[in-house]
Amino acid sequence: MPGVFVVLEGGDGAGKSTQLGRLAAWLTQAGREVVVTYEPGDTPLGATVRRLLLDHSSGDVSPRAEAMLYAADKAQHVYEVVRPALDAGKVVGCDRYVDSMIAYQAAGRSLDPDEIRGLADWATGGLAPDLTVVLDVPVERALGEKTDLDRMESAGAEFHARVRAHFLDLAAQDPSRYLVLPGRDDRDAIEAAIRARVEALLP
Ligand SMILES: Nc1ncnc2c1ncn2[C@@H]1O[C@H](COP(=O)(O)OP(=O)(O)O)[C@@H](O)[C@H]1O
Ligand SMILES: [Mg+2]
Repeated sequence: MPGVFVVLEGGDGAGKSTQLGRLAAWLTQAGREVVVTYEPGDTPLGATVRRLLLDHSSGDVSPRAEAMLYAADKAQHVYEVVRPALDAGKVVGCDRYVDSMIAYQAAGRSLDPDEIRGLADWATGGLAPDLTVVLDVPVERALGEKTDLDRMESAGAEFHARVRAHFLDLAAQDPSRYLVLPGRDDRDAIEAAIRARVEALLP
């Protein structure tokens, strides 16, 4: 595949958007074509799915229904946005991807991680990132000051602690494809560490 696929993972408020913006600015300045995108919701169909997922009006959502909705968003996102950009040789920077689904729907909701990975891989056609950056922050720091929590953010501290631990587990299983950084380190230091790893991937 001609493009480069970089994913940022981590809890809400970990700094994913901040660092994706900085990464994209640097790549653009270096003359690269960049697509910055996110899951769930960055397609017309996905935006509708995102509302269903995050709105409290969805009520008591079955963990399996939730997993299927995330999978549907991913299938559409890869089909409409990610795969075409990679095929065109662009750098794709994505805010959340398959690991979020495994961390939230398997570890968080207590479903089988192998089954969730199977569902996610089916949805994406097995498209894997070249690099996943995990921005790690303590749960209470991330959601601490935030009010007006959405349906996922309201899942509770234990849920979010399981999610956080699972991101670290996934990264530990395949260090060559991951970069784990403390999300509350200095923004410039985080940016530099991400740049160094991405630079090595550029053709
Ligand atoms: N390294 C950092 N140290 C302290 N605060 C940060 C850092 N990076 C981002 N923030 C702040 O934390 C908040 C959440 O950042 P954001 O990039 O929106 O996270 P996410 O996209 O992961 O939810 C923002 O107010 C942002 O300015
Ligand atoms: Mg964000």
